[in-house]
Amino acid sequence: MFTAAKPKTNPYEIPRDLFGAINELKKELNAVILAHYYQEADIQDISDYLGDSLGLSQQAANTDAEVIVFAGVHFMAETAKILNPNKLVLLPDLDAGCSLADSCPPEEFRAFKAKYPDHIVISYINCSAEIKALSDIICTSSNAVKIVNQIPQDQPIIFAPDRNLGRYVSEQTGRHLVLWEGSCIVHETFSEKRIIELKVEHPSAEMIAHPECEPPVLRHADYIGSTTALLKYSQESPSDKFIVATEPGIIHQMEKAAPDKLFIPAPSTDNCACNECPYMRLNTLEKLYLAMKNKAPEIILPEDIRVDALKPIQKMLEMS
Ligand code: 13P
Ligand code: SF4
Repeated sequence: MFTAAKPKTNPYEIPRDLFGAINELKKELNAVILAHYYQEADIQDISDYLGDSLGLSQQAANTDAEVIVFAGVHFMAETAKILNPNKLVLLPDLDAGCSLADSCPPEEFRAFKAKYPDHIVISYINCSAEIKALSDIICTSSNAVKIVNQIPQDQPIIFAPDRNLGRYVSEQTGRHLVLWEGSCIVHETFSEKRIIELKVEHPSAEMIAHPECEPPVLRHADYIGSTTALLKYSQESPSDKFIVATEPGIIHQMEKAAPDKLFIPAPSTDNCACNECPYMRLNTLEKLYLAMKNKAPEIILPEDIRVDALKPIQKMLEMS
């Protein structure tokens, strides 16, 4: 992870009307706030654009704003910087990393890739800039199936870093994929047993799941998709009850769009809040305000890595 030094913050700097102060700073800086659905509700509500990883990278590619405030995790803000080298890209908390991105260290991945010289590399966007630089095409959970389907049948593929999304894409496309064994701690926390118990308790509920979940959970799903796809499905389905197997931040939007429907977060193996992403939840409204006020912490990237990481991202945007 490439980062700048952390700024010193003073808690007395926080104004009472945070929403008002953030909106003022937005005008002053000509800034746009891009937020992922896994952010806390207040951040979702103040964002200019709220979306999944694909939507966020498309917005980052097209924004006219001079400053991008990224309310998400490091790899997302890094993607925005790769696309916008001359803009200031701020991440409210530089420790907002990602277990999945961390599960694919560049040197180990380089050695793994060398074992398959005739393979192309398709990497899920949840990876570091160095892994993107070692990849041919980036994908997200929204477009992974569509992208793999565009690759000629005789072209072998390495899929990294998420083994669960990789397995799901392989099933959907009928393609053999060489998988890197990475995973997300949040999506691997759901308990199959407790989901079955919930289904028995709520027989009319539909179970909807993100493809980063493990196969024993996915096999009980009535619908599988990215966060945007799950939100859309929950609005369009005639069902009025859903068990939601992804980070529960998305439920804020599901409830706003369909206030009469019931959304039950899928339970974890322990009675913990482990289904909340500990990285995404490091960002707070206060830190977002301070990042804009101090114009820091900012995302900084070595230019050679940025240039190499840009090509597979552009390829994804063309193929989406
Ligand atoms: P999407 O935004 O593609 O749904 O992925 C979810 C996720 O895990 C982001 O970290
Ligand atoms: Fe990473 Fe999982 Fe958190 Fe998404 S939910 S940012 S994949 S740890």
